[in-house]
This record gives sequence, structure tokens and C-alpha cells, in this order.
Amino acid sequence: MFDYTDKAALTANKLTADHGIDLSKLPKIDMSTASITEIVHAMNSNCPDERMKFVFKNLVDHLHDFVRETSITTEEWMSALEFLTQTGQGNPSVFDLQPVAQSDSNYPEFKRLSDVLGVSSLVGSMNDAKPPGATEVSDLGPFFADDALEFDNGASIASEGKGDYMWVEGKVLDTKGNPISNCLLHAWEADGHGMYDVQYSPGGSDCRGRLRTTDDGSFCFRAVVPVPYLIPVPSDNPVGQLIVSLGRHTFRPAHLHMMLEAPGFETLVTALYFKGDPFLTSDVVCGVKTSLIVDTTTETDLAVTRARGFVEAKSHQVLKHNFVLATPEECAEARKRSIQ
Ligand SMILES: [Fe+2]
Repeated sequence: MFDYTDKAALTANKLTADHGIDLSKLPKIDMSTASITEIVHAMNSNCPDERMKFVFKNLVDHLHDFVRETSITTEEWMSALEFLTQTGQGNPSVFDLQPVAQSDSNYPEFKRLSDVLGVSSLVGSMNDAKPPGATEVSDLGPFFADDALEFDNGASIASEGKGDYMWVEGKVLDTKGNPISNCLLHAWEADGHGMYDVQYSPGGSDCRGRLRTTDDGSFCFRAVVPVPYLIPVPSDNPVGQLIVSLGRHTFRPAHLHMMLEAPGFETLVTALYFKGDPFLTSDVVCGVKTSLIVDTTTETDLAVTRARGFVEAKSHQVLKHNFVLATPEECAEARKRSIQ
């Protein structure tokens, strides 16, 4: 048999010199009895980062279990790898908060995959867990802009003709029911055609704005009734093809995005969804939570319409909703519970 001793010693020395890896300290594996899963765990056990080691141990366990439980064929696995390769080539991996027009396919493809498989929603719920009674989070989406115009209470965030009128009012409270004054609210929504302002060319800020709560925590503004919209996932891109293959659609239910910032409280990114929307239970990005489904009422008194500042004398929808913010300490406690 060829004697590897000298060559191995040379290689081992080079490994130590170049990468700080001491071969003699790697776990000894009985290849005749160890499963492939145990072999990979043993090899990864030298990882100096305990958290990374833990995450990869679980990743390997679940991946190997997935393969065993599905009896996946070589052909299927090659197709999966081809899909992931195409997904990686699909779009730039830009995970910033700048608004992007989804129609121009700038939305990162892997982020889209994470969204449609519900992973983004799950990670968000765990990491942004809220205490009982506090408003839950929902996805930020790609259309947030942190430089939207600031309005006075009662003003309209939508220009005339953008959709059916909607009056939004409520309070921002802490978990004990105390009002939070001077809370900065960001509100943004699709218009009556299911389009965000950044999807128009030329565009201009519309159907979005910021305002602050008054001394008693109140806010109110005029908006339009949002409608469900189609996320334009090109059918010839990997995630688009996957969605079609799974027999799903690419609609999001109508929603009003909100972000609330107040000193002493954890910033809340959320959205309100509307009772009766046919897409509530099949949101393509899995963003809906039951506690965020709201109902509107119809105000038919035209004197109220006029008093609220709407241009046209016609009935309008009224959305009343209070938001409850939690402190960083309360959220940390909730996070701890969510991952137990
Ligand atoms: Fe949205």
C-alpha cells in the first residue's frame, strides 16, 4: 500500500500554516459505520463559530431528512439545483429598503423565493415577535420610501382621482392603554388600480405620507380604498414558474402599509388587510395575519364627507383602528418566548 505518511504530514503542515487548521484535532470518524449525516456533522464540528456550527448542524439534519423522507431522485435533485442556480442568476441580491418597481424585475429573486415559501414571514414573526395585545408585524414590501411628505392630521395622502375615498382614524397606544403622542406614522398603499406611485413613469409621490399623533395619541387622514394587486412575477423566471407549477396565483390582498416610530418603543412595520378580500388566505407572499384583518364601514352622510375634506360629495369608507406599540424590553421577552 502506498505510504501517505510523509505527504500527509506536508499537507497537514501547510493546512496549519495557511488556514490554522490542525488535522490532528479533527474528529476521527469510523467511515464504515458512520452515516453520511454523521460524517458531515463531524467535519463541520471544527467550526470555530458556535452559532454557525449550530445553524449548519440543523441545516444538514433537515436537508438530509428531506432527501430521505422524499426519496428524491437524482433527476429531481438536479432539477432543484438547476432551479436554484437560475434563481441566483435571476436578479441582483440587493436587499435594501429602496422602493423598486417590481415590474422591472429588480426584486431579488431569492428574496421572492423566501417570500412565496413563507420563510420571510416566519423569520419576521419570530424576530419581530410582539407581546400579547401589541400590534403584529407584516412585511415591509418593496415600496417603502422614508422621505414621503409629512401631512397634518386630516389631510389626504392620495391625490384626487386615485381611488374610492377612505377615511382612516385611530390612536396609537402602549400595551397598558396609554396614548403615545408625537408618534411618526408612515402610511403607503396601492391606488385604486392596484399600483404604487413608483410603478408609474413618470411618477411622483402619491398614496403615501407621514403624520404624527396628537397629544392624546390620535391620528386621522384621508386615503383611498386599496385593491388587491398582481405581483408581476414574469412567467419565464424561476420563481414565477414555480408559483405556476404549484397551482398558485401571484396576487396580494388589498392592504394599507403602516410603519410607526416613537421614542422608547420598538418601531412597528405592519399592514392592515380588509375583511372579505378573496385573497386573504392565498396571499402570494404569506403576509396576512388574522389580527391585522380589519373591516370598514360606509359613511353616507355627505356633510361628514365634506367636513372631512373630500372633494367630491359622495359616500366613503371609514377605517378605524388603534395600533399598540411595545417597548424594546417587552419585545425582547416576546422574542425569547417565540423561539422556545
Ligand atoms: Fe404592498
